[in-house]
Amino acid sequence: DIPSLYEAFNDYFPIGAAIEPFQTSGLKSDLLKKHVNMLVAENVMKPASIHPAEDTYRWEEADKIVQFAKENNMQLRFHTLVWHTQVGDWFFKDAEGKPMVDETDPAKREANKKLLLERLDDHVRTIVSRYKDDIISWDVVNEVIEPRDPHGMRASEWYQITGTDYIETAFRAAREAGGPDIKLYINDYGTDDITKREMLYDLVKEMLDKGVPIDGVGHQTHISIHWPPVADIIESMERFAELGLVNSVTELDMSLYAWDDRSDFGESIPEEVLSKQADRYRELFEALKANKDIINEVVFWGIADDHTWLSGFPVKRTEAPLLFDKYLHAKPAFWAVVDSK
Ligand code: XIL
Repeated sequence: DIPSLYEAFNDYFPIGAAIEPFQTSGLKSDLLKKHVNMLVAENVMKPASIHPAEDTYRWEEADKIVQFAKENNMQLRFHTLVWHTQVGDWFFKDAEGKPMVDETDPAKREANKKLLLERLDDHVRTIVSRYKDDIISWDVVNEVIEPRDPHGMRASEWYQITGTDYIETAFRAAREAGGPDIKLYINDYGTDDITKREMLYDLVKEMLDKGVPIDGVGHQTHISIHWPPVADIIESMERFAELGLVNSVTELDMSLYAWDDRSDFGESIPEEVLSKQADRYRELFEALKANKDIINEVVFWGIADDHTWLSGFPVKRTEAPLLFDKYLHAKPAFWAVVDSK
């Protein structure tokens, strides 16, 4: 019998996993119960799933995950109230069904902005009110920084129509509906990159100065066995801690390939690759443990290699980014993490 992953981290932070509702039964659910004490929905709490049309909320799939977590004393993260993708088109259409981004008349643009912010406010309040007693950590906005876009702000429909007001509205509504105890996060990938990190830092600082209630930064941490240096990940967390914010690792996985590499290990992943992965995971977790005071939770984007978004992204190939293999057996990386000092 192997040790429990989350129990090994009881003195540090909760350990979580992203799941789909169907994984709350069967073999996968046993693995989850043993090894994680936090869950996040991989897809079913995204705007398009939970709020597919203006007057339609779909709670059933999301509720399955909440229910399973409660039955097993697991905490929850909410992912995600706002995103530029996996969001219904209906948000961004005016009363005539015309895309708001196409509007050129200034008065109509202003009216559209108001309408979109009202829709957002309603979206956030409805969802937060429903789950505020069950879900402790909330990704309020996801991936709003894009260094290649003007001002470093992702040129999403949200941004094109409202500027940064959507961010402010979402956080304020979440705090008002959820109260002081829930933790509100701005979540992004590539936060180890200094350029992107500083853009995020400037945005967060500006928001905090305006009294916008942001509690923490979520670092997705989709990394590879080659990149980035663990020191850069930690440095980014320290930077946000300077602002009085907490940090969470929200979507951890570790690809076997470099970002621009298009090779495929197919059926046989070389042992030295899995051992390199274990070494990297060990190094990462030793650094996370050493910085536990500025880290709230560490969540993997999946639990075992049989189910990972990376097997289709950026190309279809064999990926094995997690601590358990496709047969749900502990990998060298599992032992490295459990043994980390
Ligand atoms: C991914 C899911 O894992 C996939 O199943 C889905 O098809 C696309 O989204 N960053 C995020 C997550 O914030 O929401 C993404 O999840 C992975 C990258």
